[in-house]
Amino acid sequence: MNGKNKIYMKEWLKIREMSLEPILKWAGGKRSLISEIMALFPPDYRARRYHEPFFGGGAVFFKIMPKSGTINDINNRLMNFYTVVRDHPEKLIEMANQYKHDKETYYKLRDRFNQPGLSNIKDASLLLYLNKTAYNGLYRVNSSGGFNVPFGRYKNPNIVPEERIRAVSRILKNVKIYNNDFSYVVDYAEKGDLCYFDPPYQPVSSTANFTSYSSDGFDFTDQIRLCKTCLDLDSNGVYFILSNSFVSEIIDLYIDIDSFRVEVVQANRAISSKVSTRGPIYEILVTNIPKEISIGDIVIQYRFKRLKKESNFDNIIKFTPK
Ligand SMILES: C[S@@+](CC[C@H](N)C(=O)[O-])C[C@H]1O[C@@H](n2cnc3c(N)ncnc32)[C@H](O)[C@@H]1O
Repeated sequence: MNGKNKIYMKEWLKIREMSLEPILKWAGGKRSLISEIMALFPPDYRARRYHEPFFGGGAVFFKIMPKSGTINDINNRLMNFYTVVRDHPEKLIEMANQYKHDKETYYKLRDRFNQPGLSNIKDASLLLYLNKTAYNGLYRVNSSGGFNVPFGRYKNPNIVPEERIRAVSRILKNVKIYNNDFSYVVDYAEKGDLCYFDPPYQPVSSTANFTSYSSDGFDFTDQIRLCKTCLDLDSNGVYFILSNSFVSEIIDLYIDIDSFRVEVVQANRAISSKVSTRGPIYEILVTNIPKEISIGDIVIQYRFKRLKKESNFDNIIKFTPK
């Protein structure tokens, strides 16, 4: 390991130790890939403005705790939640602490959440309660927008993590909160800024129809728009990292762009109990951050070698079209 890598490695280990956990559980949460994502950052990442246009639970944001930038998600109730956490943490804590944890209360509050006319703080307190007590911590709505996840039967959930809400409130004061399409970031990010994209993933199943599949209302034309957004950021001198599933249609979009590189990583997620889908899950990270200035490229290389050894990786890489 040369001198530069030693310094970067130290920085990387320091980052891993800092921990502000997300408040909400969110589908597609990025906790398991944080080390790899952060290893791609430049070492002075905290001095740069940071943007996260598909915020969800914000696992990466809370790990790096940026000093300025923007966060965004198309889900308006989610972004209202973070605005209330930032601006009214004590009122939120007080209100959410009034809700009892039992099945009857859950369905009563779920109905209330689905009715119009809630104040922003009430809306946020109900979202917190439902997120902590709903089955699997899912956020799912029906075609008319009603939250419809059943009661989760957790034994003793920590519904109102007070200290975390206060800490998150302090960090959120550093950023602007938006509720927009991800493409807003082209207007807001400036040269030298960092941007992390975690869009709804393309499905891995080979039987899925890529052009018509939509998750979170996000279909393949949105994936193409996202690739164009990355190109725009690149030409404006903004650094980006994007995660997505390891599927040829997505790799195809990015692989031929000279200033981008595509890294394959293994997500240590809980895997499906179905025998047919059991096995390691690969994902891709795309970035325009040059290898020479990434904090922990060495970490990525190490993982890559191990992955190759453990998983007959050569066969998998053949799956990539180019
Ligand atoms: C995979 S999740 C992000 C998970 C997040 N990184 C975490 O750690 O929890 C994708 C998010 O993208 C949001 N989304 C979907 N379409 C969007 C769009 N066009 N613009 C911005 N956000 C969008 C969804 O509401 C969802 O919260």
